[in-house]
Amino acid sequence: MKHLLLAMFLSVALIGCSDESAPDKQTAADIRAGSVVAEKECKACHGLDGKGAAPGIPNLAGQRGRYIMAALQEYKEGKRVHAALRAIATDLSEDQTRGVAAFYASLAPVPAEKGAVFSPYENGKAVAAACAACHGANGNSKTAGTPNLAGQQPIYFVAATQEYLTGKRESAPMDPILRKLGKLDIESVALYFASQMPAQRSAPPAGNAAVGEPRTAVCGGCHGSHGVSTDAATPSLAGQDPQYLVHAIKGYRTTRKNDTMARVVADLSDQEINDIVAFYATQKSKPAEDGQNLLRDITDKCNRCHAGDINNRALAIPIINAQDKDYLVLALRAYRDGKRGNSLMHNMSVPYADSIIESIASYYASLPAK
Ligand code: HEC
Ligand code: HEC
Ligand code: HEC
Ligand code: HEC
Repeated sequence: MKHLLLAMFLSVALIGCSDESAPDKQTAADIRAGSVVAEKECKACHGLDGKGAAPGIPNLAGQRGRYIMAALQEYKEGKRVHAALRAIATDLSEDQTRGVAAFYASLAPVPAEKGAVFSPYENGKAVAAACAACHGANGNSKTAGTPNLAGQQPIYFVAATQEYLTGKRESAPMDPILRKLGKLDIESVALYFASQMPAQRSAPPAGNAAVGEPRTAVCGGCHGSHGVSTDAATPSLAGQDPQYLVHAIKGYRTTRKNDTMARVVADLSDQEINDIVAFYATQKSKPAEDGQNLLRDITDKCNRCHAGDINNRALAIPIINAQDKDYLVLALRAYRDGKRGNSLMHNMSVPYADSIIESIASYYASLPAK
């Protein structure tokens, strides 16, 4: 995830976000004409006070007029998909569009909902209590054969849990617990463990780390230098429990289903496996994520454009503070999944799991509009 976040940051730095606060032009006549359109065409869903009539319908009150016009244009052109809005936007004249945008922009913003901000880290910490008996407090296991989860890469972690549940891996003792967890809980516990400090280990009884190291040349391209992965979908091996590592490597030749791994470990002898494991088990690892500060780190970047007082002449940037939470979730998922045509926001949201989108959405929904 780290390099994706970085790439996203750089692309934003290039585009930049100058702070030219050009107030949207709206005349009293526009607003009056717009209120007539709103009464007839929009009231049922957006209200005459600009508050979405149900969760998932965006608030329009106090939204920037220029953004409302741009959004209606996108529905009209099919760049945003919504059948009713496409029909409505197509029927409006240019004057009516400008008017209804001016009308909603002129309204006092809807006060922020008082909902709690969802923290995947804190949620994950609560879920992790059910794992501690085997994987150790903070994910540093004390039981030989049971893997450490501390510092592990989060996308790999989620994938691993699914492999147990779908039978791609032999069942493990925690399967009944995992089966009860929803997607947000699994992603949350992955983020929590990813953010814990892995403990340093002593050398295992079998294997020679110095002999094993050169054999890991082929592994390092994916698992990172000294087994510290920098790719969220590839596991770190550094500091992992040695008995578990041996079992896992042999598993790729028998029960675990992963073609790449099966290929690279196919010809290793037991001694070679012990040497490789002795090397990886004694390497120092580190947390893959900084879950406690994740929301702040992400929103610092979003606020370059979305902070309340930034209005940009070149981009029609929406106000997202105090927006309906469910609508924000839908909007961010739509960008991420390529269902809403805006390449800038797609690039911004593509690395985010549902749990992180939930966190971002609940955060902005809770902020005062102005
Ligand atoms: C049948 C219900 C309905 C009606 C009627 C309706 N809307 Fe919407 N509107 C929605 C929903 C639902 C969305 C969110 C759609 C999506 O996810 O893109 C939306 C989205 C929008 C957006 C995008 C907001 C944003 O933050 O991106 C604008 C602007 C908008 N509507 C304006 C209007 C105007 C103006 C009218 C009247 C001329 C109108 N709508 C009538 C349901 C409605
Ligand atoms: C009763 C003991 C036990 C409990 C409780 C338990 N686990 Fe496990 N877990 C194991 C064992 C043993 C393995 C290794 C299975 C194998 O060899 O594939 C494992 C493997 C894993 C792996 C794969 C790690 C890797 O590096 O691929 C993940 C992820 C995991 N557990 C997550 C969890 C989570 C999340 C919880 C709590 C909700 C949990 N476990 C609770 C015993 C347990
Ligand atoms: C082309 C990339 C690639 C190479 C090269 C590679 N791996 Fe992997 N490895 C992966 C991926 C991806 C996974 C996760 C597979 C899964 O979901 O089971 C994995 C999983 C593993 C696991 C399981 C970790 C766990 O926590 O359960 C071990 C152990 C492992 N690799 C060891 C090695 C060793 C040793 C080598 C070198 C001999 C190696 N790998 C080379 C990509 C690679
Ligand atoms: C470089 C400026 C920029 C940055 C940085 C940025 N956005 Fe946006 N955002 C925009 C623009 C422009 C739009 C309108 C795009 C469109 O028309 O679909 C938008 C639209 C949105 C919307 C849709 C709002 C609505 O009413 O439909 C959400 C939600 C959103 N951004 C959230 C975020 C989050 C969360 C981040 C940080 C991860 C972020 N944005 C970073 C410029 C930016």
